[in-house]
Amino acid sequence: MPHELRAQLERLEELFTVPTDLLKRITAHFQSELTKGLSVEGGSIPMVPSWCMSFPTGHETGVFLAIDMGGTNLRVCEITLPEAKGEFEIVQSKYRMPEELKTGTGEELWAYIGDCLKSFIEEQHPGEMLEKLPLGFTFSYPATQEYINHGVLQRWTKGFDIKGVEGTDVIPPFEAALEERGLPIKPTALINDTVGTLIASAYTNDQVRIGCIFGTGCNAAYMERCGSIPKLAHLNLDPDLPMAINCEWGAFDNERVILPRTPYDVIIDKDSPRPGQQTFEKMVAGLYLGELFRLVLLDLHENPDAELFKGQDVGRLRKAYSLDSSVISAIEEDTTDDLAEVAAFFTTTLNLTASPAELELARRLAELISTRSARLSACGVAAICNKMEWKTCAVGADGSLFGMHPYFRTRLAQALREIFGWGVGDVPDPVMVRAAEDGSGVGAALIAALTLKRVEEGITVGVRNPESIYRGTKDEERDERVE
Ligand code: BGC
Repeated sequence: MPHELRAQLERLEELFTVPTDLLKRITAHFQSELTKGLSVEGGSIPMVPSWCMSFPTGHETGVFLAIDMGGTNLRVCEITLPEAKGEFEIVQSKYRMPEELKTGTGEELWAYIGDCLKSFIEEQHPGEMLEKLPLGFTFSYPATQEYINHGVLQRWTKGFDIKGVEGTDVIPPFEAALEERGLPIKPTALINDTVGTLIASAYTNDQVRIGCIFGTGCNAAYMERCGSIPKLAHLNLDPDLPMAINCEWGAFDNERVILPRTPYDVIIDKDSPRPGQQTFEKMVAGLYLGELFRLVLLDLHENPDAELFKGQDVGRLRKAYSLDSSVISAIEEDTTDDLAEVAAFFTTTLNLTASPAELELARRLAELISTRSARLSACGVAAICNKMEWKTCAVGADGSLFGMHPYFRTRLAQALREIFGWGVGDVPDPVMVRAAEDGSGVGAALIAALTLKRVEEGITVGVRNPESIYRGTKDEERDERVE
């Protein structure tokens, strides 16, 4: 590698590497910020009580609808929880979310979701007269919940910027869209994807205490004790009652005191729809990894000391967010000696011819960016474990980075070992992060089922208009048959 490029690579190594001692300091600060978020005064991390107040027993039953509003698709599912412990059946359809919707209006969003649900019901139940079906709505944005069937959007994340939704409860316009279309559907629970992941994973593994998403966005949920949530003290809840907390940890370090931000992270934030927000998420989540990679390459092209892709037209590389995290995964998956696949990526996607040294640099850069993401993510997991004094537990994780990146999991596990200082005797790792069950499908259905069960038992705290929450006909029929 030419001397100039080598020097640049060394600079990047310095910028993106998070050594063990810093991981430990970040974890300690993260832990105190989690606690602060639960206090009356609050902190940067929202720590939202989700009103999901128990783990499943595995014996939940019923038929439920679930929707998940992701960045690319709207997924609609019908889930049947049968008698058999820990089992489920799922029928689903995916509808592509038009890109314009992300920057459109609330009315357009609710109309679109209503139309997709209508198509789903027409496809799955043609000509049937249905009584209302309970629905779990996976809404993966920070929403303040006074009840489980309520959620005031604090702010959009992950590049969404739909007008007129922030600061409002998302359930009433959603219900109105259902009513306008004559759809027999009752929103029973509004769920963050991390809470869905926590509950779905706990359905099949009773060691699970934390649910994480390492995908387009990044966040975690865990089960807290009501007695450790000072901001709920005014409700006089039994201190031993469990409460799933949607941490919204993407907001960690918004006050910028500990994370080792690079000039590239500064650009990402400045050019985002919500500068100053989601500082942690912008350094670790999938949405931003490809963009970081692009920004560094462009900088090295423009830097006279590096002159990457010298004399070539970098027009395609100038397009913001043109590279997603799958590019990082693909580059790191290239095991050929001459990095033939990385070279092909540069030619076909970016119309650039990369020299062997440039290929080597690109490969190492991808590694640096995704390794930083995995290592910083581990700080959040470790901070929750330390806060709860859990020496051992299982963590259910989902999301494209966790699922698709070839080394994210192993690097996350390695960082946890460094943070906790586990030795040779700690085999297997006391805190193990594993692939989760489907949180926004079966998790949403389970949370709707747990809510119905709670209301049936007369525990209506955290449920708005509990009298309007009821099981669907299908389930009543099934109950009659069982009787
Ligand atoms: C959202 C969270 C969500 C996470 C993962 C973040 O941008 O604020 O609510 O859990 O993405 O999808």
